[in-house]
Amino acid sequence: MPHEANGRVIEFENVGLRYGLGPEVLQDVTFSLAAGSFHFLVGPSGAGKSSLLRLMYLALKPSRGLITLFGRDIATTPRRALPALRRRIGVVFQDFRLLSHLSAFDNVALPLRVGGNREDDVRKHVIELLSWVGLKDHVGARPPTLSGGQQQRVAIARAVIGRPRLLLADEPTGNIDDKMAFRLMHLFEELNKLGTTVVIATHNEALVERVGHGCLRLDRGRFAVDAGDQGVSDTRAARPAGGNRDRLYPSNAGDAA
Ligand SMILES: Nc1ncnc2c1ncn2[C@@H]1O[C@H](COP(=O)(O)OP(=O)(O)OP(=O)(O)O)[C@@H](O)[C@H]1O
Ligand SMILES: [Mg+2]
Repeated sequence: MPHEANGRVIEFENVGLRYGLGPEVLQDVTFSLAAGSFHFLVGPSGAGKSSLLRLMYLALKPSRGLITLFGRDIATTPRRALPALRRRIGVVFQDFRLLSHLSAFDNVALPLRVGGNREDDVRKHVIELLSWVGLKDHVGARPPTLSGGQQQRVAIARAVIGRPRLLLADEPTGNIDDKMAFRLMHLFEELNKLGTTVVIATHNEALVERVGHGCLRLDRGRFAVDAGDQGVSDTRAARPAGGNRDRLYPSNAGDAA
């Protein structure tokens, strides 16, 4: 498996997307993201944020243009090699997509179990992370019995637990109060300090302002990058992986309310 070329995790070149015979919902999108960078993806409803993320996690193919993921041109990558690329990406879906017949615990444990981790390690990490997101008392609950905000936190925990190379989150704080939203932003920032490239689609401009970081902007399928965004389309070296810290979240963090 090749690593990112030139420290770029993902590159888009003149990418266009249409659904079926409809109009182009993304037009001439060109950017590349530096390994270890952190970006918000903003734009009004219908601007194409979810569509852009779907291209990034290979759920859709572009109608035109070139996408390079982890140094591989996805158009010429054999189909059988795509699942391995896909496993390096953590996704928080706008509609969660939890498995409703499994407990919160088993949903979050899934990526670790697929990765062949020992069951006692799985147990320790899953409980610790679910506690961090305030769901210690709900580890055995199935998603249909949880509130929207609780399901969203399970979805976030599942996406980050395997420490993906690239984390894509689609409105991850849409159902969550501000206090919990900032707590979850902290979780994404910790993951980023460990080397993960992060892209968070959101409507919440207040959150973007308060947390900082660069902005990718979409407006009716047109793409732009804020002048202040350092990690995009330049050759900035990957951020060092947080010194000696290798923990995703502080263990003494206790439970969130
Ligand atoms: N499966 C689909 N089939 C056809 N058109 C679609 C499909 N999904 C999205 N679109 C269209 O693509 C455009 C962009 O939609 P998208 O969901 O990417 O926007 P968004 O920025 O994520 O919006 P929101 O903030 O409401 O989540 C819209 O015009 C939408 O109608
Ligand atoms: Mg969307």
